Parts: sequence; C-alpha cells; structure tokens
Amino acid sequence: MTITTLRHSSGSSCKIHSFGATVISFATDQEHLFLSNDAILDGSKAIRGGIPLVFPVFGPSTAPSTMPQHGFARVNHWELIESTETTASYTLRLADVTAGRGEHNPWSIEEVVKNGIDVLLKYDVSLGTDHLVTTLTAQNTGKAVFDMEALLHSYFTVSEKAAHDNSRTFIEGLDRYSIVDKVTQESGYVQPVGEPVVISGETDRVYHPSEEKTGAHVQLVTPQRKLYITAEGSNAISCVVWNPGKEKAQAMSDMHDGAHEEFVCVEPGILTDRTIRLQPGDVAFLKQTIKAIAVK
Ligand code: BG6
Repeated sequence: MTITTLRHSSGSSCKIHSFGATVISFATDQEHLFLSNDAILDGSKAIRGGIPLVFPVFGPSTAPSTMPQHGFARVNHWELIESTETTASYTLRLADVTAGRGEHNPWSIEEVVKNGIDVLLKYDVSLGTDHLVTTLTAQNTGKAVFDMEALLHSYFTVSEKAAHDNSRTFIEGLDRYSIVDKVTQESGYVQPVGEPVVISGETDRVYHPSEEKTGAHVQLVTPQRKLYITAEGSNAISCVVWNPGKEKAQAMSDMHDGAHEEFVCVEPGILTDRTIRLQPGDVAFLKQTIKAIAVK
C-alpha cells in the first residue's frame, strides 16, 4: 500500500492512497478535503474521507445481489502506472478485484465466467495551481454489455465546524434539479431557482438535472473559501449532497466525534435512471474539477 504525493511549483499538493485510488488530500493555501481522524488506511475498509470512487453501483445493491454499498472500486488496490510531479494514473482490472464483488450479480466471479464481462478502470489525477482534476474511465474489455453507475464521493472540509450553519455553508448551482430525498423518502420536487442547498441535520439527497445535461457546475460556499466543482461525463451528471448528521456520524466507527460539523459531501455522478450501458470496446468517463477560491 502506498501513498503518492503530487506537488505543484505554486505550493499546492495532493495525496493519493493506492487503496481505492482514494485522493486523501488536496491543499492550496489550506486543506480542501476532509479525512476523518478515525479513517482506516490499512486497506481493510473503504477510506472515510477524501474522494472514494464509486463503481459499478451507487448505494446499496438490489437483492439478490450482495455487492457491498457503492461497489468494489473503493475497496481494492489500484496500480500506479504513471506519475510525474503533478499527475498520477492508476488502473484496476477486474481480474485484480479481490474484494467487494459479492454474489448474484453480473460482476461476481461465478457470473463473469459465464457472461464474459470484463472492465478496465483508469483514474487520472492532475494537480494545478488552484485546482485538482480527477477523471475516472471505464473501458468494456469483455465480450458482453454491462450497466454501470459511477460517482466521485468527494468529502469537502468546512472550517469552524460550520457545516450546518446555513448562512455560511451552502451549495449553489442545483437550481431546477429534481430531488430524491433519502432521509424523508420524498421525491419529485425541484430545487427552487435562486435558493441555495443547505445542510440540515442528516442530509442525503440526490439531485438529478432537469435536462439531459452531461455537465454540472456547482459551488460550495464555506467560511474559509468557495469551491467550484465542475463535472462532465458520458451521461447526465447528477449530484449527491450528503452529511450523516450527529447521530448517524456517532454510530460510524470510522468517524471522529463532531466530524459531521466539519464536512459536506458533494458527489457528482452518473446514477439511477441515467445508468450507462457500455458495449464491448466502449469507454465511459466521469471527470471532476475542483477549483478553490479563498474567501476574503
Ligand atoms: C452517500 C449516500 O453517497 O454515501 C449515503 O447517498 C451514504 O446514503 C453515504 O450513507 C456514505 O456511504 P458509506 O457506504 O461510505 O458509509
């Protein structure tokens, strides 16, 4: 298991853990990614913080599949194939996926022998003066078509424990997106124009674009800075906004006390009814650019 550090001449830096190819730090004049003090970094559990990669399923699997929540990409060792001072490229081949395949789904060892599914995942990380670009690509290297979801599960730090302070921490850019609220179980309503998205207690919502937009531009405003999160991909880009709230955070063994006030997850992804159907030989991608602007 290795941690690769990228450094830009301007002073920005980035750290990537080979487990899950999880970016665990992106700093300019300050750190932008949240990593729990209790995060497990020994490869026995998905890393709680940074940017875990979600593939090929988002959320819990549908029965009878026993693939774990958010799929296998974040719980396997990725190979670093190329790096420079400011870039790193990782790959994960299905043949090297030893954890998280589960059973009774097309990715299980038993099924793959019969159906001929194969995939090559690639993850490119590129550091700039004030921005970080992360691109996940999936190439269908097998004989059969497969459906996939993908998501960049980004945990962003919020200083002064202000994640739930709605006047200082909010998300812009999701106007007119339709909402699926996994806490209240409500759906089918849209984010009003001009109204920012705020975190109130436990928050777990998926925002789907009203049009088939293959790009998203979201701004996360926090006391310490504004983050511009731009995403594009091979299908419409949805965005998950998640914070476990106090009780759920306390129940998570890898979340330190009070952590829920220190981060907000803003997660661009290709999800649910926008799932990608990838034919043999085809490539799909999901790209995120995070740009940090200090708040004066
Ligand atoms: C979010 C989901 O993306 O990830 C939440 O919308 C989920 O429902 C959260 O709780 C964290 O998931 P996990 O598996 O890392 O605890």
